[in-house]
Amino acid sequence: MRIADRVALVTGASSGIGRAVALRLAGAGARLVLHGRDQQRLADLAERTGGVAVTGDLARPEEASRLAEEATRLCGGVDILVNNAGVGWAGAFAGMAPADIERLVAVNLVAPMRLTRALLPAMCARRDGYVMFVTSIAGRTGVAGEAVYAATKAGLDTFAESLRLETRGSGVGVGVFVPGVVETEFFQHRGRPYERRSPRPLPVDRVADLLVRTVAAGGAERYSPGWLRLPVAVRGAAPGLYRWLAGRFG
Ligand SMILES: NC(=O)c1ccc[n+]([C@@H]2O[C@H](COP(=O)([O-])OP(=O)(O)OC[C@H]3O[C@@H](n4cnc5c(N)ncnc54)[C@H](OP(=O)(O)O)[C@@H]3O)[C@@H](O)[C@H]2O)c1
Repeated sequence: MRIADRVALVTGASSGIGRAVALRLAGAGARLVLHGRDQQRLADLAERTGGVAVTGDLARPEEASRLAEEATRLCGGVDILVNNAGVGWAGAFAGMAPADIERLVAVNLVAPMRLTRALLPAMCARRDGYVMFVTSIAGRTGVAGEAVYAATKAGLDTFAESLRLETRGSGVGVGVFVPGVVETEFFQHRGRPYERRSPRPLPVDRVADLLVRTVAAGGAERYSPGWLRLPVAVRGAAPGLYRWLAGRFG
């Protein structure tokens, strides 16, 4: 996928992985549409990258289609869509407020589906485009204390896999990027710090580099770090062993 002179829409561009990805895409010559809720951060990034900022809350059902319309109006269309915005929640599921369940499903799962639904037809008509979904290792393995977050990411993963099959031969690529733990404000935003000793959080710049290389290659799937394939493979091949290990080591 050529990046130079292409229009790339990045959700969650105001912070962390999305911000670092936006800077790299701009460095590779993309024209950017930057989305998030934090107006000041987006304005600063837009100035730095020459992109345009669109602010809004993806928890609102109409925001994804509004964003797609705005991006198309401002830039004439979107060639690369990076569905990156996401929100976490950690704690015992039995104590989770129903409104938080709905917020996580809306932002992490429904919004990327709606945004993709709005932008995919034009990509297919041009027989050109690429849609990236930022999922999580939590969605591939399940994580105690993050049941809803993990479920939204698993849903996104399966949606992307199905969409890839459906768009085969259409000229549009679909990829998933599966991070482990990354040094961003994600844990601060979710309201509970990352407390495990391993795996160690990866520097956001390294993760963003890999994500943009995956876009450029039109890749279908990339783990960051790569060794995360291992627990997923063990879970697939020997689920009993996986559950025993997960129960023991977390
Ligand atoms: N960090 C990790 O360890 C890790 C691991 C696996 C997967 N991920 C995934 O990576 C993606 C990026 O996370 P990050 O680590 O960069 O976290 P982050 O620094 O907290 O950034 C999250 C981004 O999502 C946006 N966002 C959150 N809620 C939103 C809403 N309701 N409407 C619009 N935008 C919203 C935020 O924008 P505003 O602040 O402007 O609202 C922000 O730009 C997420 O999908 C996350 O699930 C992260």
